[in-house]
Amino acid sequence: NTNDFVHVKIIDRDGKLINSKAKIGSNMLDVVLDNKLDIDGFGACEGTLACSTCHVILDSENYKTLPEPVEEENDMLDLAYGLTPTSRLACQIIVEPHDDYFLMGNQIAHIPNQILNVETYFNDLSGY
Ligand code: FES
Repeated sequence: NTNDFVHVKIIDRDGKLINSKAKIGSNMLDVVLDNKLDIDGFGACEGTLACSTCHVILDSENYKTLPEPVEEENDMLDLAYGLTPTSRLACQIIVEPHDDYFLMGNQIAHIPNQILNVETYFNDLSGY
């Protein structure tokens, strides 16, 4: 049933946009892994909040709709490379049956200077 899925756009480490689908109720770590994104070591602790390798950057609309992170997620996020105001850990994002998602994996080689401008970056790509 296509109603069980939402559309997800993911930017991989090369800055390439990947259009995908995510099953409602699944977590975003699995969605990224299912898409075989080339992000070294992504999801190292398999969703147990013992790493920050599943760090993703969301567009602000998606970010606002997420429940608050638990304390353990915040502690891990503090250790994440390239933290932004709309960063979360993918394993803690449960896909909801509302808007489509737009997110970017961490460890993206050429993006660090664009991270400050992440919203602009998303906007540039949102037409694809
Ligand atoms: Fe380790 Fe998400 S996979 S915290």
